Amino acid sequence: MHNILVTGGTGYIGSHTAVELIEEGFNVLIADNLSNSDITVLDGIEEITGVRPLFEKTDLCDRSSLKEYFNRNPGIDAVIHFAAAKAVGESVENPLMYYRNNLVSLINLLEEMELRSSGSLVFSSSCTVYGQPGKLPVTEEAPVKKAESPYGNTKKISEDIIADTVKAAGHLRAISLRYFNPIGAHHTALIGELPRGVPDNLVPFITQTAIGIRDELKVFGDDYNTPDGSCIRDYLHVTDLARAHVTAIKRLLHDKNSKDYEVFNLGTGTGVSVLEMIRTFEKVASMKLRYRVTDRRPGDIEQVWADTTLANSELGWKAGHSLEDALASAWKWEKNYRQLKKNK
Ligand code: UD1
Repeated sequence: MHNILVTGGTGYIGSHTAVELIEEGFNVLIADNLSNSDITVLDGIEEITGVRPLFEKTDLCDRSSLKEYFNRNPGIDAVIHFAAAKAVGESVENPLMYYRNNLVSLINLLEEMELRSSGSLVFSSSCTVYGQPGKLPVTEEAPVKKAESPYGNTKKISEDIIADTVKAAGHLRAISLRYFNPIGAHHTALIGELPRGVPDNLVPFITQTAIGIRDELKVFGDDYNTPDGSCIRDYLHVTDLARAHVTAIKRLLHDKNSKDYEVFNLGTGTGVSVLEMIRTFEKVASMKLRYRVTDRRPGDIEQVWADTTLANSELGWKAGHSLEDALASAWKWEKNYRQLKKNK
């Protein structure tokens, strides 16, 4: 049985990936500093899979404690690195915190992996590296643009750090997965997205408005050059995304990678506007959502969706869930979570 270290494994995408890994027979170790996640997520993972991953509260930015972690857990075969801060606005206000947190943790991890046999890394990257692409759908060959935020820049720099390190070190192999917009929750509604405070992202804001925590959703602009004027994104179900990580890990562990460093887009290949998202949510939740069109949000990209040809043909992965499924799961999770909180 392979041992996979999942950094940030109590977070949104990390926890869903832990579930899929366990269900595929992997032994999962989670290292997370719990700065933006809750320890109770482990209960959810255990309830779904029957297995409680080995968890340690770990600060990856602390070089010596990371070394001790690897010393205590010598059999790690591969690492999936999610642990990072991801709030765009916060990164603009506090860039050094973002550069330190997201880059020092990666450097520490790579230094430790270079010394060990755990030579396979799957990295959590983002379509943010493309900025506003000139050509849609966007392929992995599209130029990487100057980042709109320090957060986005940490993803771009991280990819460069990984590529350079893999090139220099004989035994390291890595895959960067460029996510488009992950949404939804596990079908059991036992784990899901848990934004702290007011959500930045569209879908948690929609579900919190629907349940009555927020008065109304603000649609950030309807004067873009798109069919209905609102921004377009490629929203994919988090379970599909989680499964892509399992596929990527197997690819590395079974020597199926074609290069030592590879990059794949992970999306559905379909662009959906904010107004279409609202209509689809209203349909699956059988309710009207209160919303209002406001000014554009600074830094927003007008439209982006993925060319998934490479992920489909080379990685052998394809998003399987529909947008309706994804939104229904997000809504089920929101209702379940509020009920759980009430009962506590
Ligand atoms: C954002 C980040 C991206 C990051 C991702 C992490 C920016 C520019 N991009 O993506 O780098 O990887 O989060 O999850 O911040 N919207 C509304 N009202 C809302 C919230 C969102 O209309 O209350 C709209 C936005 O304008 C956008 C779409 O919904 O068109 C999706 O927004 P969001 O979920 O924040 O994701 P991104 O901005 O695509």
